[in-house]
Amino acid sequence: MRRVIFNQKGGVGKSTITCNLAAISAASGLRTLVVDLDPQGNASSYLLGAGAEPDQTVGDFFSSTLGFRLGPRKSINLRQFISRTPFDHLQILPANRELETLQGKLESRYKIYKLREALDGVAEHYDAVFIDTPPALNFFSRSALIAADRCLIPFDCDDFSRQALYELLEQIQEIQEDHNGQLQVEGIIVNQFQSGAKLPRTVVDELHQEGLPILPTYISASVKIRESHQQAQPLIHMAPRHKLSGEFQALYDRLGEGAAAA
Ligand SMILES: Nc1ncnc2c1ncn2[C@@H]1O[C@H](COP(=O)(O)OP(=O)(O)O)[C@@H](O)[C@H]1O
Ligand SMILES: [Mg+2]
Repeated sequence: MRRVIFNQKGGVGKSTITCNLAAISAASGLRTLVVDLDPQGNASSYLLGAGAEPDQTVGDFFSSTLGFRLGPRKSINLRQFISRTPFDHLQILPANRELETLQGKLESRYKIYKLREALDGVAEHYDAVFIDTPPALNFFSRSALIAADRCLIPFDCDDFSRQALYELLEQIQEIQEDHNGQLQVEGIIVNQFQSGAKLPRTVVDELHQEGLPILPTYISASVKIRESHQQAQPLIHMAPRHKLSGEFQALYDRLGEGAAAA
């Protein structure tokens, strides 16, 4: 199963949710791959450590799609660009700043299906793929939405994010119609939920009433997340008994049997 975690708004928890779900998947024994498509590389530093400079990145993969060295019909093996992480069964296709400089070229040469093709090529090696996206609907996030079977949408309970949510669902629908009929919106993940505060609850209740697919497993706001980023340890490893680890596990379980099928 391939999942993309997307919201064009920054700071809603895409990278945090990607890495924590992927870590749970890997810890359960599934061969799990994280694809980092954000030039900021937050998922990469979360799983590899802040100072890590992997030899190969997703930028090198996209660069190679622009080359003619391969000759016709030779596809690119994605595995050469993938790094191991310190965690069993968890690998990553990391990103760095260089990714940004490629975007115009990739777009003008219609490379939007290359990620999907490359992931198809390594499908037998992975049971679960989680794709982290940049905070924009651009070449990279479109590539991810075209490559994925399911889309998870983190939502930060901010009233201003609501309008963006409707736009986002329309954009996803357009991608479903034009490029990827398989793509399903798996649900909206309420993140940074403060159960004691009135506004988030009102916002979430209204979204429910409007019929949006809000997942029932909320992720609370907690400073533990920042610590987890700093230590480059997903919560299941850093603090397995913490409330948030339980919430991520509940979210993962909710995603259900689909997580086990590649
Ligand atoms: N549940 C949470 N509780 C507290 N802080 C959070 C939570 N989720 C994310 N954050 C913080 O919010 C910021 C943005 O999260 P991030 O996952 O990088 O979002 P995105 O990838 O959507 O930009 C980070 O500093 C992160 O530590
Ligand atoms: Mg991010």
